[in-house]
Amino acid sequence: MKIMIDETQIECKEGELLIDVMLNNNISIPHFCYHQDLGADGNCRMCMVEIKGEKRPQVACDTLVKENLEVFTKSKNINNVKRSILELELLSHPVDCPICDQAGECKLQDYYMDYGLYESHLTTPKTHKGKHIDLGSHVMLDQERCVLCTRCIRFTSNITKTHELGIIGRGDNAKVGIAPNKPLSNPYAMNVVELCPVGALTSKDFRFKQRVWFLDSAKSICHGCSRGCNIFIDYNETKYTTEKIHRFRSRRNNEINQSFLCDYGRLSYKELNEKYEGKISDVQDLKKLLKVEKKVALVSPSLSLEQLKSVQNFTQKHKIALFSLPYLDENFGDDWLKTNERSANFKGVQELFINTLQKEFEEAFKNAELIINFDHQLLKNKPLVQFTSTQNVNQENLVFAIANFAHESGTLINCDEIRQRFEASKYKSQVPRLVELLEQLS
Ligand code: SF4
Ligand code: SF4
Ligand code: FES
Repeated sequence: MKIMIDETQIECKEGELLIDVMLNNNISIPHFCYHQDLGADGNCRMCMVEIKGEKRPQVACDTLVKENLEVFTKSKNINNVKRSILELELLSHPVDCPICDQAGECKLQDYYMDYGLYESHLTTPKTHKGKHIDLGSHVMLDQERCVLCTRCIRFTSNITKTHELGIIGRGDNAKVGIAPNKPLSNPYAMNVVELCPVGALTSKDFRFKQRVWFLDSAKSICHGCSRGCNIFIDYNETKYTTEKIHRFRSRRNNEINQSFLCDYGRLSYKELNEKYEGKISDVQDLKKLLKVEKKVALVSPSLSLEQLKSVQNFTQKHKIALFSLPYLDENFGDDWLKTNERSANFKGVQELFINTLQKEFEEAFKNAELIINFDHQLLKNKPLVQFTSTQNVNQENLVFAIANFAHESGTLINCDEIRQRFEASKYKSQVPRLVELLEQLS
């Protein structure tokens, strides 16, 4: 069906929420409490719009589209409504934006700049609430900055069903909090930081480390398990040194992770900042070793399809038996996002028919004169050639540092056989990419 929003014709489907139609068409619609993966709650009233034929403004998060609907988002009347709502939200707000970690990605700050900019009418002192409260699980709460949208509460009650958060008190004393001695403690707890539209919930890991406007982002995929949750890698070049990754953020993908990540995956960015600092071997030394008869290679099931293919071509050319083994961890998976297969592309390994039989690998390993490890987490105590993207390697081996996935683009196949592309950050890696290194060897 067709509807009109601010005199522009938009196509949509029957049964869709007006706010979703606007968000999906990049039409600006201020909102605090609505979230595409948490649904509507109707408590903030920020999403008010005018609809032709309706006497009063309506909330877009509770309006279903219908044929020939005419919507206005920018009228004087609507702007006044939004100003009044913002004034109410900011009555007791500390307005401490210059020292707030959310500055630059705070919806309250953005909407104030768009609609607010008024002198406060308040003549009584502001209501003070709790500051820097440690909620547990890497999350800090500032109750004075909260707009009581309940997104965080709905996440813990409807999604993780762990019920740690609630609203305590009434009127202007209402505040988000936890029960005494019941910290926020579930493996997905840090999602509340991203869900919070303002600076009330911040990450202990990220707060005060970087201003967000200094960060660049790459559209990537978490490599923590075979779910393949979509992420943004937020990074920048640290003055006088090299690129540093500061956080992973979720990137919405309705088919896989919606807007969520597990805390383990979210914090796994730290491994990408650990660089190999040992001695790099000479490719000529490896060329000499390739002359022996019995050669075995083990390749990481977290490499992209493109990397796996180039390893496969290299091993076929040099008559090296190629294997890959999964990263199984029975204690990791759960009934939501986390899976027991801790590699990012085991399905890709299977698609390329790389041998994954443990027994055959062990047999070949015992008899081998040369073993090449392409970034697999296993393997010790043999004269090895290591291609590594981490720092944990034995210096007695021949070692070739390779770029980690933040510097790579490529394709992964997740546990549900969904094929996904990821992109590289724009800074050039200090070490070569695996495919380039293998080209030098061929
Ligand atoms: S802490 Fe943030 S997410 Fe939770 S109710 Fe307050 S503003 Fe909303
Ligand atoms: S569930 Fe797996 S892929 Fe998703 S964030 Fe966690 S570790 Fe990463
Ligand atoms: S977003 Fe519609 S009422 Fe809050």
